[in-house]
Amino acid sequence: MILSIESSCDDSSIAITRIKDFKLLFHKKISQELEHSKYGGVVPELAARLHAKALPYILEQTREFFPYLKAIAVTNEPGLSVTLVEGVSMAKALSLALNIPLLPINHLKGHIYSLFIEKQEIFPLGVLLVSGGHTQVLEVSSYDKMDVLASTLDDSFGESFDKVSKMLGFGYPGGAIIENLAKKGDEDSFSFTVPLSNSPKMAFSYSGLKNQVRLCVESFESLDEQTKCNIAASFQKVAVAHLTQKLKKIFKAHSFQNFAIVGGASANLYLREKLQSITKTLHLAPLEFCSDNAAMIGRAAIKAYEKKLFCKLDDIRVNPRVLV
Ligand code: KG4
Ligand code: ZN
Repeated sequence: MILSIESSCDDSSIAITRIKDFKLLFHKKISQELEHSKYGGVVPELAARLHAKALPYILEQTREFFPYLKAIAVTNEPGLSVTLVEGVSMAKALSLALNIPLLPINHLKGHIYSLFIEKQEIFPLGVLLVSGGHTQVLEVSSYDKMDVLASTLDDSFGESFDKVSKMLGFGYPGGAIIENLAKKGDEDSFSFTVPLSNSPKMAFSYSGLKNQVRLCVESFESLDEQTKCNIAASFQKVAVAHLTQKLKKIFKAHSFQNFAIVGGASANLYLREKLQSITKTLHLAPLEFCSDNAAMIGRAAIKAYEKKLFCKLDDIRVNPRVLV
């Protein structure tokens, strides 16, 4: 079995995955959303302190599996440096105490492997990764070969939902809040322009759209509930249209038999529906594994274990900004 740890942002999570059949034997996650909500985003130092409490609490519940462990896997990149360090320190201590090897795992590879929890992997695969930190289209040939075809020039898709939620007076994370408001709104009531629609660039940009929404919000003295719903719906429509416009262009150059959406924002049902209509076979992770979790890190770790990608205790590095 592999014990995996995830602490790259504001979710403390540990999983135990059986190597031979990918079975998820244990999975717990403690989210810090409430603690960060009043600040409108994740406060790294606070997140690190909360991981330092939550991770040992979850670990205590995994003791029965210790005799069967073959490796300790941990997210070491990308993410917030002070929170990554919490998971990596725990992984090093466990590796030393139990005398088993360490497997550093890239968080974005983890999101891709969220598709294969308790399943065989399917490659080649086109992937749209939409999270709080990333908006990327990837051509994934294998665990080691993941090419970035497009990424964001500024804000990410999920981050733009978080910021619009804050502008409308709601909390963090904003994704589900905006999606729910949008269900009650008229998506044609405000006409925001789709970013980079006349640009040949294979890239995304959300900062301009965020500013369009800000100007719209500021044009009202006060916002009633229905207007908030209308703004949320109009914003979501354009945020998703930007993704589908660029994806259609990418699909002309790369014809993917299999395409997937992963990452926290892939839980958005409106986005899922729109992508379903432009892809042949759309793969999705179960909703519970879309946002950050250790089960996806454990599943990716099985591949790393087969490839013997072990790392010496002194060599493991925390890389906050690296990509796949
Ligand atoms: O993957 P994730 O849990 O953490 C990162 O690696 O960033 O993604 C969290 C992000 C947040 O920005 C959150 O607002 C966004 O995913 N998100 C959503 C939805 N659910 C979560 N964005 C849009 N619609 C949603 N339903
Ligand atoms: Zn993530």
